[in-house]
Amino acid sequence: MSKFTLKVNGGTHTVDVESATPLLYVLRNDLGLQGPRFGCGLGQCGACTVIINGVATRSCVTPVSTVKSEITTLEGISKNGALHPLQQAWIDEQVPACGFCQNGQIMTAKALLDKTPHPNDTQIREAMARTLCRCMTYYRVQTAIKRVAGKRSVAEAAAASQEVVA
Ligand code: FES
Ligand code: FES
Repeated sequence: MSKFTLKVNGGTHTVDVESATPLLYVLRNDLGLQGPRFGCGLGQCGACTVIINGVATRSCVTPVSTVKSEITTLEGISKNGALHPLQQAWIDEQVPACGFCQNGQIMTAKALLDKTPHPNDTQIREAMARTLCRCMTYYRVQTAIKRVAGKRSVAEAAAASQEVVA
């Protein structure tokens, strides 16, 4: 066991764990942050996504010992009790079905919009392509991202529904 100090959502936490422990386990089990989910545990689905140094990162395959930068989890994106615009858009567009993948969808979308505030359709599809949803919410995810980006009106986005990502 070794001690690691992590900066998470503006706070600092010291944990005493094995160096190879996945960051996901530390966030959920040691820090009580339940936003990131365990889906595949193999870096394949995206359910465990957090943002590290501006990059959407799969915490299930990230050893805690390798993390040197600030970590943002789903719990950290709202400010002063106000929902993040993506969270509001997720409500407005009624995006989730079962909800299990939605941490990954929102955190991946946030990393995209932080870097590219007005992404085009291709950029959105490419950024979200590896974040899997067994309930097939992909179209609503894209519509919600476009709502936040202000790239199109909702009506325009609906008219473009033929661009649904399978
Ligand atoms: S749980 Fe991490 S990518 Fe699936
Ligand atoms: S909403 Fe069910 S897996 Fe995506």
